Amino acid sequence: MNKQFAKDIIEGLSSERKTLSSKYFYDDAGSRIFQEIMNMPDYYLTNSEFEILSLQAKQIIEAVNYNQPFNIIELGAGDGFKTFKLLEYLVNNHIDFHYVPIDISQGAMDELTKKLKSKLPKLSIHPKVGDYFEILSKENVQTKIPSLLLFLGSNIGNYTKKEAKNLLQLFNNNMKKGDSLLLGVDLKKNPITIQNAYFDKHGITKRFNINLLLRINREFDGDFKVDDFDFYCHYNPVNGEVHSYIISLRDQKVVLNKLGKSFDFAYDELIWTELSKKYSLEEIDNLARESGFKTVNHFLDCKHYFTDTLLVKH
Ligand code: AVI
Repeated sequence: MNKQFAKDIIEGLSSERKTLSSKYFYDDAGSRIFQEIMNMPDYYLTNSEFEILSLQAKQIIEAVNYNQPFNIIELGAGDGFKTFKLLEYLVNNHIDFHYVPIDISQGAMDELTKKLKSKLPKLSIHPKVGDYFEILSKENVQTKIPSLLLFLGSNIGNYTKKEAKNLLQLFNNNMKKGDSLLLGVDLKKNPITIQNAYFDKHGITKRFNINLLLRINREFDGDFKVDDFDFYCHYNPVNGEVHSYIISLRDQKVVLNKLGKSFDFAYDELIWTELSKKYSLEEIDNLARESGFKTVNHFLDCKHYFTDTLLVKH
């Protein structure tokens, strides 16, 4: 049994405002549903970042400005779809670098390696499976080669402001002076555009959330009746936060046999599942400064929906 998951479920479903963390969305089925989300036209984040890395790879690498071999270390590489364009630019221009994708999923890393080896046979790739910081402290701090870290896809948006600062500080502690971080961040924009990206009419994001209940049923011998729950999300343009929820459609009790626990849900009670925070460029600069970085440049897509912001540790 995943003990941390068990602990988080008990804590989250026992509190007055129930929560379940979106970090548990990504079992095999959840990862597949997330792929579907990334393919939805309304989920503009993927296309925006793909455009930035396709059209501005040259400018990004010039701004990084390493006149010697370097590492590109990608944190949470997943399927590597966005990164491909950046890697392709570097390989085609005979730039000397090693690509080190890191992910917690061995399956994702095997697939990515296979795909990249066939598409870019000249790429030097050293995939790592495990915890970001353990790997960074070994792979990065102890080498003299400069590194460009990638943390893309607006993954930073799934952390509260305080958690985001702590995470960037941890990255910073595991970087050498002069190392860079390319941070993908979704920007504040017309609230309707954001609302449509998360409250999609095909119900894919709803499935993404409800899948968490199916996962809990499977892993903890639970009896969540998924038809008795619905999905809601709301973007608050004042603080830039999308909050996603599962709603209980009736008074009900759910038993998780493997935990020896049951939880009561009231009619219309909410379970908060996810935060997806949007930033302004100024907020990103402040967050970077407070975590020990200097902003080198914001690379934006043509609609100014998304930024890949280049930060340097000074
Ligand atoms: C992974 N993460 C950045 C996504 C986001 O936009 O917050 C997850 C997601 N949730 C709903 N749609 C996509």
